[in-house]
Amino acid sequence: MARKKIALIGAGQIGGTLALLAGQKELGDIILLDIPDFAGVAKGKALDIAELSPVAGFDAGYSGTSDYADIAGADVVIITAGVPRKPGMSRDDLVGINAKVIKAVAAGVKEHAPNAFVIVITNPLDAMVGLFQEVSGLPAEKVVGMAGVLDSARFRWFLAEEFGVSVEDVTAFVLGGHGDTMVPSVRYSTVAGIPLPDLVKMGWTTQEKLDKIVQRTRDGGAEIVGLLKTGSAFYAPAASAIAMAESFLRDKKRVLPVAAKLTGQYGVDGLYIGVPTIIGAKGVEKIIEIDLSADEKANFDKSVDAVKVLVDVTKKVSAEG
Ligand code: APR
Repeated sequence: MARKKIALIGAGQIGGTLALLAGQKELGDIILLDIPDFAGVAKGKALDIAELSPVAGFDAGYSGTSDYADIAGADVVIITAGVPRKPGMSRDDLVGINAKVIKAVAAGVKEHAPNAFVIVITNPLDAMVGLFQEVSGLPAEKVVGMAGVLDSARFRWFLAEEFGVSVEDVTAFVLGGHGDTMVPSVRYSTVAGIPLPDLVKMGWTTQEKLDKIVQRTRDGGAEIVGLLKTGSAFYAPAASAIAMAESFLRDKKRVLPVAAKLTGQYGVDGLYIGVPTIIGAKGVEKIIEIDLSADEKANFDKSVDAVKVLVDVTKKVSAEG
């Protein structure tokens, strides 16, 4: 069987990490694309990782380019093109620059890789993935945003630390937009299947500590930006997108929270928002609608409203240029 082709649009911090992780998992041949001024960076990272592969022991082709014709026939496209946050910025401050970048990328992907499964990482995520899908016209089930896997990974890590247990035994659920209004669900998060509220009853933790962990999860991206000072998180975001790409390429049908285009689910129509989905060979094979408590629903609706505001700003910026 011929190797799959994975195109990474943006060869920055996340792009380089994606290239390494995709190779290590032998997901396919990898092509890194950046703007002409950064074609050398794309080629340099590709060559550097190719030269790592004999030591690490994996087979994957690597190349770098600034020409969209080279991504022709890609099975998966992962987009990180754009600018990341600096300290003091919210994800929303990036709209102006990143909306223009996403429009250019959407045109390139539409022309050269219209059958790909596309994962958008560029922030502000929910608005950028919506813009990409609208401009590219690719089917909604083949265009998703990476946010929930990352947000729930952060939640899982904090919980594992709190309980002193393996991260493998902690599952976590995060819904809503990829911003300060995201909704980490305490009820649907567990340690080895035991829901967090039960763990409070069992005396493993307190509600107060859980509330702090929920807030830390919401602020997880900003915490890293504050430490790095020069950009935003890249290892965990890259690993999260690779989990999504792998579920698609290997038809694993993993249940993953992703930003998907809703068509009436959760009372939302025509908007990208973080929800649990099944990701398989067809892309988003199912959007799972779970029962939300009144509180959760109120928080989810607040998050949806925040995304709507951002989508409106994006539309305005987009119309201007
Ligand atoms: N086409 C292709 N690549 C582009 C374009 C474009 N039109 N515009 C910018 N880029 C490239 C930049 O040249 C840079 O190499 O995108 C890359 C972005 O890399 P970094 O600045 O290192 O940013 P990174 O940390 O990878 O984050 C990228 O993901 O999580 C989000 O908020 C983050 O929006 C940001 C994105």
